[in-house]
Amino acid sequence: MASVKLENISKSWGNVTAVKNISLTIQDQEFLVLLGPSGCGKTTTMRMIAGLEEPSKGNIFIGEKRVNDELPKDRDVAMVFQNYGLYPHMSVYENIRYPLKVRKVPKSLHENLVRKTAQKVELEDLLNRRPRELSGGQRQRVALARAIVRAPTVFLMDEPLSNLDAKLRVNMRAELKHLQHELKITTIYVTHDQIEAMTLADRVAVMDHGIISQLDSPEKIYNDPANLFVAGFIGSPSMNLVKGELKEGIFKHSNFSVKVGLKECSEATLGVRPEDLELTNPEKAVCSGRVYSFELTGESTLVTLQFEEDRLTVRGHNKYRVEIDEIVGVNIFPEKCYIFETETQQRLRR
Ligand SMILES: Nc1ncnc2c1ncn2[C@@H]1O[C@H](COP(=O)(O)OP(=O)(O)OP(=O)(O)O)[C@@H](O)[C@H]1O
Ligand SMILES: [Mg+2]
Repeated sequence: MASVKLENISKSWGNVTAVKNISLTIQDQEFLVLLGPSGCGKTTTMRMIAGLEEPSKGNIFIGEKRVNDELPKDRDVAMVFQNYGLYPHMSVYENIRYPLKVRKVPKSLHENLVRKTAQKVELEDLLNRRPRELSGGQRQRVALARAIVRAPTVFLMDEPLSNLDAKLRVNMRAELKHLQHELKITTIYVTHDQIEAMTLADRVAVMDHGIISQLDSPEKIYNDPANLFVAGFIGSPSMNLVKGELKEGIFKHSNFSVKVGLKECSEATLGVRPEDLELTNPEKAVCSGRVYSFELTGESTLVTLQFEEDRLTVRGHNKYRVEIDEIVGVNIFPEKCYIFETETQQRLRR
């Protein structure tokens, strides 16, 4: 077991810079999630830790040891690749068994280990197939099984659940969480799915264009975003963000005002989550708007209101019903609002 430390890591190819001077320490036994949109540098970061890509700058440590010059096979990391990386000529059984052979685990243990692992990811009936005879989700589970069949120093998982159907994904998520509790192996996990990040992580590093925008616990990332990027990225549906101005402690939008008690700022953005707004009678409300769309999600409803150029989405009760084009009122609670300086994108704090 070991910590992983990235020290001023950058990666460029010609004029493309995928990772810009990242420093990050993942504690021993920690489950760290790299979260961010497509192209922000997640896979590149993982590949550098695995030794499949050489950093243009900076140092990588696993435990006390600087591993920049170590071959991937000498780093004792198990990686689940975004594109599976299975051996096409080997059966599922042999694919899962492969790391045991490479690591010289006694042969007598192989069958039991492979079968137990296959069971964990629901593959026990497919052990004789070749990868090309499997669905995408099944291939992904083989890749996962191959990583967890032995206990490496570090797990690197790149979107390991992205090709699974919704139900299996939720099952596997719980399975991974349990596995982490059982194995206590330092894990770096890449996803662009914020629910996965929130549920699995001890800490989340939110990445944006090659930098770490915020590194915090899932709770802090959700409740205390440092900037507009993190605020807008975390939460589903996303946080409502509307532009206005801040004068004498009051945020002024063309349709409503909220007393937020913050210093002046000519161009400010107010953020408020759909679940923190309240639907009400238009006469009693802070603001009212025309219903643009109405969606039923099962456990709740989503009502999107249109104001001139802005929209606000409100999460309502699951019994709430409304028609498109009706006028609905919304209550906005100042203590639930986040204010950002539009120009710098940084959060303004009370
Ligand atoms: N070998 C390469 N040569 C040139 N540019 C590359 C190379 N590999 C990646 N990039 C670029 O680096 C950036 C980061 O890529 P990376 O694969 O790390 O993104 P990602 O965050 O994993 O995205 P996704 O969620 O789509 O997998 C992208 O702009 C990508 O086009
Ligand atoms: Mg990727």
